[in-house]
Amino acid sequence: MRLKLPMAMVAFCLVVASGDALAGQGETLYEATCGACHGPGGVGTTSAPPIAGTDLWSRLGGKAGAYLTGVMAAGMSGTFLSGTSPYGNQPMPAQLSPSPEDMVQIAYYILVELNGGSMDDVPSARDFAEARENPPSIAALTALRNETQ
Ligand code: HEC
Repeated sequence: MRLKLPMAMVAFCLVVASGDALAGQGETLYEATCGACHGPGGVGTTSAPPIAGTDLWSRLGGKAGAYLTGVMAAGMSGTFLSGTSPYGNQPMPAQLSPSPEDMVQIAYYILVELNGGSMDDVPSARDFAEARENPPSIAALTALRNETQ
C-alpha cells in the first residue's frame, strides 16, 4: 500500500518540526545576553527599552527580522521613543559574543515566543553572520525604525 500524505500536512509537519528545534534555548540565551539590560522577558528597564509588549515589531512588519538582525549586529544609539518613553541616555553595544546560531535562537525567542510573530520573521544564521561582517550604520537602522512611525 502506498502512503500518501497531503502536501499541506507535510508542510505543517515541517513547520512544527523546525519550530520545535528552535524552542527552548532562546530564553536562556536571551536572559544571559540581553536580559540584564532589557529585563526578564523583554519588559525593559530604565536604561534599555522593552522589546516585548510594544507595537515595535508589528509596526516593522516584514522588516522586523532585518531590524533585529541589524541592532544585534551593530548595536543602537540615538534618542527614540518606545511607546511614550524616550530612550537614548545609553548606547547599546554590538552583540558579538553569541554565535550566529545562538542569535537565531534569541531572535526566535523575541519575535515568535514573546511577540507572537511567525517563523518567517526569524533571520537565519547566515543573515547574522553577514550582518556581523557588514554591520548596518546606526543611521540606516534609525531610518528603518522611523519608516514605520
Ligand atoms: C548593555 C546593555 C544592553 C545589552 C546587553 C543589550 N541591549 Fe539592546 N538596547 C540597549 C539600549 C540602551 C538600547 C536603546 C539605545 C538607544 O537609546 O538608542 C537598546 C535597543 C535595542 C533594540 C531597539 C529597540 C527599539 O525600540 O527600537 C533592540 C531590538 C535590542 N536592543 C535588542 C537587544 C538584544 C536582542 C540583545 C541581546 C542579544 C540586546 N539588545 C542586548 C541596551 C542593551
